[in-house]
Amino acid sequence: MNSFEINSVKFIVSFFLLAVISLNVQAGNTYEGYLLYNQTCYLCHGDSGKGDGPLANKIDADVTDLTDGSMMKDASDQRLFRLIQGTIKHGSGDTMPQWGLALAGPQIDSIVSYVRFLQRSKHALPGDPTVGAQVYIDRCVACHGRLGKGDGILTTVMKMNAADHTNSMEMNKHPNSQLIEIVTNGTPGKSLMPGWKDKLSKEEIDGVVSYIRLLSNYR
Ligand code: HEC
Ligand code: HEC
Repeated sequence: MNSFEINSVKFIVSFFLLAVISLNVQAGNTYEGYLLYNQTCYLCHGDSGKGDGPLANKIDADVTDLTDGSMMKDASDQRLFRLIQGTIKHGSGDTMPQWGLALAGPQIDSIVSYVRFLQRSKHALPGDPTVGAQVYIDRCVACHGRLGKGDGILTTVMKMNAADHTNSMEMNKHPNSQLIEIVTNGTPGKSLMPGWKDKLSKEEIDGVVSYIRLLSNYR
């Protein structure tokens, strides 16, 4: 191979790697989606997605209820992505901005994940996940892992089965009260999960339970 051919091979390989990486990114980060949604979308669509945000009665068009059943059934992730991006036409009006002008693809993916959370989670967030994000990094990563998969560094030296918080089907089985109880008191005598009632305030515990819910992917 001459150097031109080697460079072409390198180019093709790195292009392929890039494609694989961006496929992974496409999974979407529900927490990032929560942050973006609450910077913009809530203004019209409302905190819970029902179309009742503070701007909703100030504009002519009907703001879509994002949690509506038919919308859930009809829209694939891809379609939802493009509706938000503005590359396919939505509804009848033109009040809804073309978010592709302001947001990058991976950010829109994250918003899709959060919209799925609004549609599919059986449990509302009990507290403020931005409070919880810091608590999680400070107190929980060592066992549960940065992304919540239950694979923190301590699991390599201590025998434990730290819960995986990324599985939305599993997480949906647990009401907030149960998660809050476990975080507050731990599981004494049963596992290494510590209780946090002496270290964390009620606000921090509700916050970290909210953050955990957003580690799941609801797509
Ligand atoms: C200024 C108000 C406003 C904001 C902000 C806004 N929307 Fe909308 N959105 C609307 C309106 C109004 C509609 C109804 C369709 C139309 O008029 O185009 C809509 C429709 C939609 C639809 C399409 C539903 C369908 O069945 O066609 C989706 C999905 C959506 N919005 C998601 C979002 C997301 C995600 C954000 C934040 C990134 C957002 N919207 C921000 C006003 C808004
Ligand atoms: C020393 C390791 C360790 C630390 C630190 C830790 N956990 Fe755990 N956690 C565990 C283990 C082990 C389990 C599994 C308990 C069981 O199955 O009985 C668990 C279970 C849980 C559960 C139950 C979830 C389920 O799906 O069953 C929640 C919620 C939880 N942890 C939240 C947290 C939070 C929030 C923090 C930080 C404030 C934290 N954990 C810190 C080890 C830990």
